[in-house]
Amino acid sequence: MKRTNVISAAILMATSAMASAALADELNVVCSAEQDWCDLMVAAFEAENPDTDVLMVRKSTGETLAQVRAEAGNPKIDVWWGGTGDPHLIAAEEGLTQPSGVSTDELLGWARNMSDISEARTVGIYAGALGIAYNSEILDEKGIAPPACWADLADPRFAGEIQVANPNSSGTAYTELATFVQLFGEDEAFTRLAAVGANVNSYTKSGSAPSKAAARGETGVSIGFMHDMVKLAASGFPLEIVAPCEGTGYEVGAVSIIEGARNFEGAQAWVEFALRADVQSRAPEVQSFQVPSNSNAEVAPESPDLASIKLIDYDFATYGSSETRARLLARWDEEVGDPNPQE
Ligand code: F6P
Repeated sequence: MKRTNVISAAILMATSAMASAALADELNVVCSAEQDWCDLMVAAFEAENPDTDVLMVRKSTGETLAQVRAEAGNPKIDVWWGGTGDPHLIAAEEGLTQPSGVSTDELLGWARNMSDISEARTVGIYAGALGIAYNSEILDEKGIAPPACWADLADPRFAGEIQVANPNSSGTAYTELATFVQLFGEDEAFTRLAAVGANVNSYTKSGSAPSKAAARGETGVSIGFMHDMVKLAASGFPLEIVAPCEGTGYEVGAVSIIEGARNFEGAQAWVEFALRADVQSRAPEVQSFQVPSNSNAEVAPESPDLASIKLIDYDFATYGSSETRARLLARWDEEVGDPNPQE
């Protein structure tokens, strides 16, 4: 080999070695929890793994599922942390995620259930119940009696007062849709969702946005997860939280490693980290009050007590299946619909 060729080959080898080292040191995470918890997790993980550079973006659960589907075969994401469990189960069913091999021994039954349903392709990290919040100052000013039940939200007294997310993009709103179907049966659920829809002023992309708007007084009422409402009430906003009288659904937030992840080892380390009791116990530092899945993690006193809420026996296998989600969303678009979908 000529001297110049030897040099170019050496340069090429060195460059590709550097590139794969960089790849191994880079971990791409999509986070579907709240931004401040995502940031805390990244900082804590990097502190323990100083050679890893975590590149994280926050995206709602339905949006992440859409990205994971679009990137099938050539994923840019290594690990998907947080967000409601149904879309994680759907990604698992579609072969878009892979088993992490991380032990689930310390986890509570509802978290291991996600692993059982998905053949270990996803696992629960937290749980939280769906509820209604209202801004007591706004409703007082307008002389509107507060809601106590899902049925109240269809009452004309709430015309233009309700905000909820769009179930296509938001896992929270998909949980609401699936909850209505499980509580009332499919046909009646859509009649009720359309009646509530007549009072909705805006469908947001993210599930926690409506309660933030209610906290700021931009809307009177929101539908969302109670832990997000507790966070706002604890910050001093005049938000009252209602566990609907008919009963309510809940989420099991999840973590999954993407099939074909470029940094599988890093993703596995992330899952191991995210399931640890001491790591889960840190969520209240950023007022994230979901119930942790590790049986040894501390539960914040502010976390809604799931045992005292009338919870349905949420059927994750059914509502976390591709066929059910596609059918329900198509029906939602047709019979409820968002007149002004957000980009
Ligand atoms: O804000 C946190 C949270 O409520 C999580 O508990 C939940 O998994 C996630 O948001 C759902 O977000 P979205 O509805 O935007 O998909």
